[in-house]
Amino acid sequence: MAEAQATTFGVIGLGYVGLPLAVEAGKGGIRVLGFDVKESVVASINEGLSHVLDVKGDEVEALREAGLLEATTDMSRLAECDVVSICVPTPLSKTRDPDVSFILAASEAVAKGLRPGQLVILESTTYPGTTREVLLPALEATGLKVGEDFHLCFSPERVDPGNPTWHTKNTPKVVGGITPACSAAGAAFYERFLDTLVPVSSAEAAELTKILENTFRAVNIGLVNETAIIADRLGVDIWEVIDAAATKPFGFMKFTPGPGLGGHCIPVDPHYLSWKMRTLNYKTRFIELASEINSEMPVFVVDKIRDGLNQNRKAVNGASVLVLGVAYKRDIEDMRESPALDVIRLLQADGADVSYHDPYVHTLDEDGHHLESVELTDAALSEADAVVIITDHTGIDYARVVAKSRVLIDARHVAPRGEGLSPGWIVKA
Ligand SMILES: NC(=O)c1ccc[n+]([C@@H]2O[C@H](COP(=O)([O-])OP(=O)(O)OC[C@H]3O[C@@H](n4cnc5c(N)ncnc54)[C@H](O)[C@@H]3O)[C@@H](O)[C@H]2O)c1
Repeated sequence: MAEAQATTFGVIGLGYVGLPLAVEAGKGGIRVLGFDVKESVVASINEGLSHVLDVKGDEVEALREAGLLEATTDMSRLAECDVVSICVPTPLSKTRDPDVSFILAASEAVAKGLRPGQLVILESTTYPGTTREVLLPALEATGLKVGEDFHLCFSPERVDPGNPTWHTKNTPKVVGGITPACSAAGAAFYERFLDTLVPVSSAEAAELTKILENTFRAVNIGLVNETAIIADRLGVDIWEVIDAAATKPFGFMKFTPGPGLGGHCIPVDPHYLSWKMRTLNYKTRFIELASEINSEMPVFVVDKIRDGLNQNRKAVNGASVLVLGVAYKRDIEDMRESPALDVIRLLQADGADVSYHDPYVHTLDEDGHHLESVELTDAALSEADAVVIITDHTGIDYARVVAKSRVLIDARHVAPRGEGLSPGWIVKA
């Protein structure tokens, strides 16, 4: 036990994934050394602050005081670590191909300090094969042998920012190694501070598990979004249909339509698999179709705004449109890939004067436009030619939004519908 507690755990990338993991390990009594390229991130953690919504500043401060957490930009200190988890971004390039440059940079840094006995775990979501094809050669170039001198695993992060029930500690964690000894080492380490481990037989199985989970969501959201468009054409209330279908006690899982996909994961990760399969001459049809439907939803919402304004004898050009909620989902501040950005861009391109309110996002810089969140006053609601709900943050009085707005489009179905109000996307016009 004394030996186990002496472990130093290095976490590379202290963002939405890395910081909660680092804090959970620290709470489990493990000494954590966090690495980030951003000075500001490192400085704030060392001051006992948290820049991630799901991690409380108090937790960071307590770990700092206990000497269990330190952050640094000095990658040469990776050699101090017994275990290293890589939690760096995996975005798409402009041509929607995987950008593994962050993983490459991190693996080269790990390789420089690699020593016998180290365990290296990749957490970043990526295509099947990355751990073996990208990390392994970089690490074995040191002359050390995987499964013998060091261990290498992939273990996907499943964090759902803002989820009050499921977090890093109690969400079962899948881990798959390059060799059986690697899998066992990865599971044994995480078992020290996480509740449930799910070992799988290879790094590739763990990599594909993560992409299956996110593709499952992307495809089901795509299905329900297309059904929403169908219902709209048929004049049927999609929400009534979904609620009715969800009463089936088996074989149906409820997904809800909306303004499009957002976040770092669901719109991005399936394309990692598409890319990989293209290299193997296989087209991932479900992924492509879901992506096509989901990425058209902002256009659908803007068409609804256009219809609502039209019913009020107004053109989009010159209309003032107030967007409620710009974060990609409820009660978080993350703007990455948010469909609100597309909606705002499309409205501005058509000459609308766009303002927004979001309690979590105070300023917005996109496409050369700078916007600041406006206060949600009665005047702001009633003076806008149209109000559109894009993100259903809690804590907003939607009954007041309904009462005060002239034209209201609800892309999340949160506005209460009284008499004379439509159950559809255009609540009132
Ligand atoms: N955010 C989520 O909800 C979520 C959920 C599951 C999986 N993931 C995956 O986890 C990975 C990380 O995502 P995130 O949301 O935490 O990203 P993030 O942008 O919040 O954090 C990444 C951090 O890594 C740092 N970084 C970049 N390059 C680095 C380098 N070479 N060395 C050290 N630090 C470096 C950045 O400065 C940043 O602070 C991605 O692959 C993502 O797809 C994210």
